[in-house]
Amino acid sequence: MSRFVFEAADEAATDRFGAALATVLPGGSVVALLGTLGAGKTRLVQAIAAACGVSREEVVSPTFVLCQEYHGNRAINHLDAYRLRDVDELRELGIEELLASEAITIIEWADRVADALPDEFIEVTIEVTGQTARRFVVRAEGSRYQPVITELGRAASRQ
Ligand SMILES: Nc1ncnc2c1ncn2[C@@H]1O[C@H](COP(=O)(O)OP(=O)(O)O)[C@@H](O)[C@H]1O
Ligand SMILES: [Mg+2]
Repeated sequence: MSRFVFEAADEAATDRFGAALATVLPGGSVVALLGTLGAGKTRLVQAIAAACGVSREEVVSPTFVLCQEYHGNRAINHLDAYRLRDVDELRELGIEELLASEAITIIEWADRVADALPDEFIEVTIEVTGQTARRFVVRAEGSRYQPVITELGRAASRQ
């Protein structure tokens, strides 16, 4: 399977999807989040982080610091490319080291820094399908993450 679609009726369902993602993402994973303002990118990071034992309050858009690190039972780097001037700023931030670490690196507005992304990553596109409803379309870029998509399908149906 190269694509997985999860329909969330409400935020509780987004939490279940985030938990499923957290269980299947290998160490060092890079997750690119796409979707309009208010789609739910930060909310999904909260869901993933919560599943890793990080309190939801800790997770806010890293607007000013650009990158936040959370340490639950797994380490998570949370980046938001919305206010980045250019890819060079991301390089100054040490993106290479972040991507090389064993942490899960999640990047909001990843399409704005496409040039700085590694060859392989998981892409999650969030579509607003209703007031509390969201569609998560998950795609693997590169072969490394193909099995992760399959596992995600299984994990999400167990949630
Ligand atoms: N099922 C859902 N999943 C995620 N967010 C939802 C959902 N339903 C409603 N929302 C709301 O949508 C908004 C998403 O905001 P946010 O995560 O900050 O968006 P983004 O980071 O994409 O700009 C929040 O106010 C959240 O409460
Ligand atoms: Mg956000």
